[in-house]
Amino acid sequence: MIFRQLFEPLSSTYTYLLGCAETGQAVLIDPVIVAIDRDLAEVERLGLSLAYSLETHIHADHITAGLELKKRAGSKIAAPACDRLPCTDLGIEEGKPFQVGGIVLHPLHTPGHTDGHFAYLSGDRVFTGDALLIEGCGRTDFQNGDADALYKSVREKLFSLADDVLVYPAHDYKNRHVSSVAQEKKRNPRLGEKRTLEEFRNIMAKLNLPYPKFIDYAVPGNKLCGICPSDLPENLEKYCRQMSESPQG
Ligand SMILES: [Fe+2]
Repeated sequence: MIFRQLFEPLSSTYTYLLGCAETGQAVLIDPVIVAIDRDLAEVERLGLSLAYSLETHIHADHITAGLELKKRAGSKIAAPACDRLPCTDLGIEEGKPFQVGGIVLHPLHTPGHTDGHFAYLSGDRVFTGDALLIEGCGRTDFQNGDADALYKSVREKLFSLADDVLVYPAHDYKNRHVSSVAQEKKRNPRLGEKRTLEEFRNIMAKLNLPYPKFIDYAVPGNKLCGICPSDLPENLEKYCRQMSESPQG
């Protein structure tokens, strides 16, 4: 499998490019609209053709490139079926493997950050979205978030994967790239093996995070599979403007 981890610095999002060496088909997990030129150039440079974009969840901190990729590259849009987005070409469900060429992704419903959140297991890698970050996790105070559900998703579903499965998160804010199931079990300060549900509830309740500055635009835009709102205030315009450089994560 051809594999690239691509970083979008404005929202600190990791987009994953998975390509099938035999068929040349590719999928982009969680592509960001401001990085679409960079991502399409990478797909082309590798001689691949983009079959799908695939979402882990409805994002609140960036706009997905799903719809623009469909227009520009002819790719289809795959997203969790339970979110019932009318713009989705393929609804993802647990128990139904998602296949692009020789690449097989096993969807794992991992609610808690959002109720419709999915992680994807492919061989020895798991793409954990915002359910499990490196030594962290996504917040649980918006989008039907639920700390109890997230605890269950991580501890019972993600931590039941083999210890040496590599954890690829949707974000990192400290220049880290990858972890593993074993490492998160040992070192995750919120969800590691020693943490009880009660402790996790308390940690999440006391995070005191600011209101997400882009959420009121990102969520409606992402429910349409990636439309930049026309009424963006000037200080948020950068969330819809192409990034100028091509830094890679
Ligand atoms: Fe998120």
